[in-house]
Amino acid sequence: MPQSIRTRVAIVGAGPAGLILSHLLAEEGIESVVIDRRTRAEIESTIRAGILEQGTVELLTRIDPGTRVQTVGERHDGIELRFQGEGHRIDFQALVGRSVWLYPQHEVLTDLLALRAGAGQDLRFGVTASGIDDTDPDQPRVIATDSQGDNVVIDADFVVGADGSRSVMRSAVAGASGNGVFREYPFAWFGILCDAPPSSDELIYSNSDDGFALISQRSPQVQRMYFQCDPGMDAQAPSEAEIWATLQARVPGTSLKRGPVFQRDVLSFRSFVAGELRRGRLALVGDAAHTVPPTGAKGMNLAVADVVLLARALHALLREDDSRLIDTYSERALRRIWKAQHFSWWMTGMLHTPPRGDDFDRRRQIGELRSVVESEAGRAYLAEAYTGWPLDV
Ligand code: DHB
Repeated sequence: MPQSIRTRVAIVGAGPAGLILSHLLAEEGIESVVIDRRTRAEIESTIRAGILEQGTVELLTRIDPGTRVQTVGERHDGIELRFQGEGHRIDFQALVGRSVWLYPQHEVLTDLLALRAGAGQDLRFGVTASGIDDTDPDQPRVIATDSQGDNVVIDADFVVGADGSRSVMRSAVAGASGNGVFREYPFAWFGILCDAPPSSDELIYSNSDDGFALISQRSPQVQRMYFQCDPGMDAQAPSEAEIWATLQARVPGTSLKRGPVFQRDVLSFRSFVAGELRRGRLALVGDAAHTVPPTGAKGMNLAVADVVLLARALHALLREDDSRLIDTYSERALRRIWKAQHFSWWMTGMLHTPPRGDDFDRRRQIGELRSVVESEAGRAYLAEAYTGWPLDV
């Protein structure tokens, strides 16, 4: 006999989207079960991006007054765009009166898991969803297996796929292959974490003839840095000396503070938007619904924006029997998703060196960068998109 669970909303995925959704639903008295195939320790240690939009920080602070984003995280009021060896500051506060926070995603997850566990949320780790049985479209059923290999079924009034870029739920909503639109890029990022003091107070996005580099941070003792690489690159191949030489050559004008590299990875670049974000009583949020390339760090912020829309729509549907918001969830979420897709694609194209680019491409790109940094309107567009458009709250 499979283990049988009954709840109002079944949430597949205990990442930021699934956990925040469970919280917003609980605030409205809507009970949910969250499952994830990973262990809690795996979730808390996955290295992801580190930039939170102001709206994300406001939401995290409202739902969790104990969040460490304000104490451990750091507010950043600007970034630097560097090209032809010269830095140009984009002053977010002066341009749009907003900021971002540097606070790594795994810390956000640690806070959210503690918050939800403390509130008595039904959270099940090591439970892998394999599909949906929606024979009764009003009572979708999640089919899953627990860590012992025993079957688990969850009957719900609504099922949410918050299960990341390799989503199992996606095909139940959007059909096989996700029926989406897709873009690949001819480059990737090689990323490191190292034990070193910061090389700069703010993030440096540096365009150079040899390719792009990003100087980011994690804490006063730990730094995160990336450089543009070939998508086929083996993360273990370069020596530490080669890594530092590549990074340093791409950030002329700053002398990087070096230290032991204790983590390295290659991040792939993809843009993807699923063909449907909702079908009947199933919906997708976050990376299950869309992927953006990392430049500009929109991924988690976009997941939060989806969840804010979906939580309100589920409240109307499940508490007031009003389906108008859920019927328009996809269309409303897609407006922001495509703005973020454009921003991530634009930042990526403007900053990276195309592998087979010629002199025209290179000079045009410098013209584009100048058009941004030498115009208040250009800088303000970047600042507005980077710090995040208002959330629907
Ligand atoms: C980081 C990642 C990003 O993609 C970005 O645009 C800025 C910062 C980071 O991991 O720190």
